[in-house]
Amino acid sequence: MIALLVIIALITLLAWHSLHMRNVARKFSSQGIARPTLTLPIIGDSLLFANLSRTEFPIHLKNMFERFGNVYHIWVGPFSILMVADANYYKVILRDAVSKPFVYTSVLKKVIGAGLIVVCGEEWRVRRKMLNPAFHIKLIESFTKVFDEHGRTLTQRLQQHADGKSSFDIFPIISDMTLCIIFETVMGFKTDPNDLDFRKYSSATQEFIFNESERMNKPWLLPRFAYYLLRYRNFKKSSAATAYMRDFHTKIIRKKRQELEETNKNATQTGDVDDKVSGTKRQNFLEILLTSSIDGKPVSDDVIQDEIFNVVMAGSDTSAHTLCYALYLLSRHPDIQQKLFLEIFSLYETDRERSITMQDLSKLKYLECVIKETLRVYPTIPFYGRVFDEDIVAGIVYLLLIFSCTVFNNNFYRLSRW
Ligand code: HEM
Repeated sequence: MIALLVIIALITLLAWHSLHMRNVARKFSSQGIARPTLTLPIIGDSLLFANLSRTEFPIHLKNMFERFGNVYHIWVGPFSILMVADANYYKVILRDAVSKPFVYTSVLKKVIGAGLIVVCGEEWRVRRKMLNPAFHIKLIESFTKVFDEHGRTLTQRLQQHADGKSSFDIFPIISDMTLCIIFETVMGFKTDPNDLDFRKYSSATQEFIFNESERMNKPWLLPRFAYYLLRYRNFKKSSAATAYMRDFHTKIIRKKRQELEETNKNATQTGDVDDKVSGTKRQNFLEILLTSSIDGKPVSDDVIQDEIFNVVMAGSDTSAHTLCYALYLLSRHPDIQQKLFLEIFSLYETDRERSITMQDLSKLKYLECVIKETLRVYPTIPFYGRVFDEDIVAGIVYLLLIFSCTVFNNNFYRLSRW
């Protein structure tokens, strides 16, 4: 009897879901939004993405845009997704869609923790307001010396390989530099690529990214238990890497907390005015977290951990990949490389060893173009998602959605202009 009831319930669910999918599809097509024709109940259009390798996935996404246009609709399992590469939609999405998709709030949250990238709505607003000073241009300008120092270390490391004959993987060296810079600018923790603990951390980061990124284009691996069951080895490696990285952060956080307590004690004893109050010293990301409060309570250790994990992940790998792509593109375009070389060289005509300054950077207009063009051609975050919680009027299209709809913004710079 129970078995019969379960079967009836499943058939009803299946029928209801098929109808629901058909209704949503009809509404989208009445707005001229294309979608694949063969959509299966429950799994939707997931088969379109099955068995794609890490490198095939972005190419496939690009091909889908070419096939269906700059805006199209798909179902991935029960999730209704609008794939977007159109500037008009961007305005509405970035203004109105404040929630984040399941991949963020469930999957990413467990992987990188509930930091700025993952949290949404009011929680995001409060945290973002608190952390805004960490992204103040004056603070970033004060890091020029850090950029200069680590840039020099990078050049020395690259010179060891520059025999004009052999090829080598540039990514680990660049990635070491961006990680060192993040550590120093976000947490005030100075380290260098030769430090043994840093070496272990750097390997853990790569292990973590390599294993976790595989899940992002294989929807069936997204639930943690499925990842555990189907890719046990990767799951173990990724978990061990995460534990190592978090432990590393904890040690830095503890040390910074101690330092701040010492500074405060000394300031009270000597009657010095607090740096923060007098504005003589701007606080970095970690210092803000350690000295701020949310709802009248000090920021919890868990939130601090998660925010640090989020910002390290957001800042290091993105910058490293962008730099690698920029170098790759320059190697493919020697004329551009030569122009850039002359622009940079003109700054160093009188003293080739001097440190770079913020004023110098503002003069490097061609370099800025090269970086922007690199980001356009090879965006390191090729897509990200937002969720509309309710039906919206999007100016050019009325999206009537029964469930929330996830919008993935995909590499629109490249698609919409070329
Ligand atoms: C080329 C380098 C970078 C690229 C392409 C990039 C791209 C992005 C993108 C697309 C997002 C939105 C993600 C989403 O909403 O799902 C984002 C968010 C974020 N990024 Fe970056 N990023 C870069 C460098 C950095 C650096 C250097 C830092 C910090 C040191 C950083 C910190 C963050 C943070 C904290 C967020 C979340 C912001 C918020 O929601 O309030 N990023 N980044």
